[in-house]
Amino acid sequence: MRILALETSCDETAAAVLDGPRRVLSSVVSSQVRLHAPYGGVVPEIAARHHLEAIDPVVRQALERAGLALDDIEGLAVTRGPGLIGCLLVGVAVARAMALVRGIPVVGVNHLAGHVASGWLETPDLPYPALALVVSGGHTALWRVAGPGRFTLAARTRDDAAGEAFDKVAKMLGLPYPGGPAVDRLAGEGDPHAVPFGEVKTKGSLDFSFSGYKTAVRVHLAETGLQPLAAPDETPPRAMVDLVASFRHAVVRELIRRTRQLIEDERPRALVVAGGVAANSLLRAEARRLADETGLALSIPPLKYCGDNAAMIGLAGLPALVAGENHLDDLDGAASLPLGGPEAARTSHRHL
Ligand code: KG4
Ligand code: ZN
Repeated sequence: MRILALETSCDETAAAVLDGPRRVLSSVVSSQVRLHAPYGGVVPEIAARHHLEAIDPVVRQALERAGLALDDIEGLAVTRGPGLIGCLLVGVAVARAMALVRGIPVVGVNHLAGHVASGWLETPDLPYPALALVVSGGHTALWRVAGPGRFTLAARTRDDAAGEAFDKVAKMLGLPYPGGPAVDRLAGEGDPHAVPFGEVKTKGSLDFSFSGYKTAVRVHLAETGLQPLAAPDETPPRAMVDLVASFRHAVVRELIRRTRQLIEDERPRALVVAGGVAANSLLRAEARRLADETGLALSIPPLKYCGDNAAMIGLAGLPALVAGENHLDDLDGAASLPLGGPEAARTSHRHL
């Protein structure tokens, strides 16, 4: 089945064409990062307006690169949530219009199901059951994946997402936006043990919590008198390089510690690390080590599939399309959308 997928939940306008679950014919991503950089975060109104401008050329380019016309497409998949509602509605409206005009089915896809599915884009034979660590700017969670589209939540963040923590700390230090890549680049040159960031305990569960680290950075700045950079291109002082190295080390340690605990408890066959923060070089290295030590198959998508993209939405939506589902009549955007039904609201209750 040849399908076109759209993703417009945040600040990337993306379209992809898939021919069944094993062939991504094209994946086009138009990033708005530069538009939001002056504000130090995504501005919802600007994002929605840009999606409106970008969606048509992005779809055309995806079809062109796949060597197909819209007439060749047999089904549509679109992100319906969670995300910024004004942004989601652009993708949903365009997908519904195309479905109506062409008389083909359209399915709504949960953005997080897309991030989980990205683990199988380039490794379609990755075994189940798997554990998926999804770490992005908006979400941080561990999912048990029993099979395609079959998830339950094992742990999630109680406050900030890991990417959000990277972005906020970077902002405090005057580093360029988005903060994750900037912190990652700088951290490689610093001493990860220079500044102590204690282990975080979330009582009674494996849940994550990152807001304490943000406060720890603020307190450290106040106590040491370390000043944020006056301009993003200024050379950071040694003390700042050591601080971000220690911060990155602590965030990755927390992510890996809980992942290891769940692997030991539940013995899955594969580990997936996905979402924008899966681009982090230390997290990639530590996940590789963890998979080696525990004997699991590992999938960390290539960078083009770590951040928001439509190929993952297509892969996540494909089973519903193949099963003959059509959401045309009740498809709408949803700013918040739980994944996996009531199960998703439950986290595992155990102590670390
Ligand atoms: O998945 P994504 O593109 O968007 C959503 O949040 O859904 O993730 C973006 C997040 C941002 O917070 C960004 O700072 C973070 O991923 N990020 C990184 C790195 N590259 C991107 N965080 C840490 N290290 C990186 N190398
Ligand atoms: Zn995302």
